[in-house]
Amino acid sequence: KKVVLAYSGGLDTSIILKWLMVEKGCEVVTFTADLGQGEELEPARAKAEQMGAAAIYVEDLREEFVRDFCMPMFRANAVYEGQYLLGTSIARPLISKRLVEIARAEGADAIAHGATGKGNDQVRFELAAYALEPDIKVVAPWRDWDLTSRTRLIEWAMEHQVQVPKDKHGEAPFSVDANLLHTSSEGKVLEDPAEPAPDYVYQRTVNPEDAPDTPEIVEIGFAKGDPVSLNGEALSPAEMLTRLNELGGRHGIGRLDLVEGRYVGMKSRGIYETPGGTIWLAAHRGIESICLDRGAAHLKDELMPRYAELIYNGYWFSPEREMLQALIDRSQERVNGTVRMKLYKGSASCIGRWSEDSLYSEAHVTFEEDAGAYDQKDAEGFIKLNALRLRLLAKRNAR
Ligand code: ARG
Ligand code: SIN
Repeated sequence: KKVVLAYSGGLDTSIILKWLMVEKGCEVVTFTADLGQGEELEPARAKAEQMGAAAIYVEDLREEFVRDFCMPMFRANAVYEGQYLLGTSIARPLISKRLVEIARAEGADAIAHGATGKGNDQVRFELAAYALEPDIKVVAPWRDWDLTSRTRLIEWAMEHQVQVPKDKHGEAPFSVDANLLHTSSEGKVLEDPAEPAPDYVYQRTVNPEDAPDTPEIVEIGFAKGDPVSLNGEALSPAEMLTRLNELGGRHGIGRLDLVEGRYVGMKSRGIYETPGGTIWLAAHRGIESICLDRGAAHLKDELMPRYAELIYNGYWFSPEREMLQALIDRSQERVNGTVRMKLYKGSASCIGRWSEDSLYSEAHVTFEEDAGAYDQKDAEGFIKLNALRLRLLAKRNAR
């Protein structure tokens, strides 16, 4: 039996790698992706080799991640439960896509992942994998094994020659998932939602209170709804997000302490840091504000929560997500231009925007002389007819 494992190189997935070999008698192919989590990948390769992986894949997927997953999502201004920018949710389908492709190439009939049976990630990994390869088998050790306590897990690791770093003998302080878009921390010291998160949880943003006292102004250029240049310099998708992250991190932008509803039914508390994404979202709304027609913009906003929920729940590869994507992408055809952003102590504000495709008409909106662009008398009938039903209602209610 051959299985492709989503392998981070960390302790938990190393134990899983060994466990699949020892307890399940599997040949294990490891797959480690650089999604911009900021960790060296070569140690993961070395570790997989030393533990006896049958084949090892290490890939830099940063450009694909931003171009084909983050960019389509940001065109929608997708936000889950009003606040979460979906940094973990959007990375899972890409990992599953590669797992399935590698399984095909290696003649493996199963994939494995290190998500627990309590969370969203298991659902996302597996829905995506089944959508792309309907007969794939899935091994999810956390749902399977009896290593339910941290102590048992470490004991098993030591018994089976899995290297356990000294500081990992005790409980990890919390669980982290990171990529170019965000860092999320959950569990352990964060589990009581009444208690503020300790400062050391934050890893890629300064405390806004300690951010520079002078604001920084940057210009972001958009083409068809995607950010393509920073201060006039053209950037690739991953370069763009990397640069926005540096800016956001320095100015304490994009911190979030959230209790959210997981798809499996329970609520969980997470600390998120999405520095570049937070600037991106505000900038995108800034350019849309002049380029999108009101009807298009409002329809898009109505559908956004539905679209965000599909991504959160793991339905990236579904007909309904693709249908909504077609609608969203269509809306972005004329979303071109530049926004000026002010970054200051945790906030990213749009303070200027201009575009060849702007719908903004100063001639119409001005309070000064408008040279006949707009006849104010037209408004009287507009209001009268719109008021008709309200007046009939008020009269009936007074009877
Ligand atoms: N709650 C977030 C989500 O469902 C993050 C999950 C993974 N995070 C983690 N620290 N393990 O998208
Ligand atoms: C996990 O359960 O593995 C992480 C949290 C989640 O998937 O929601």
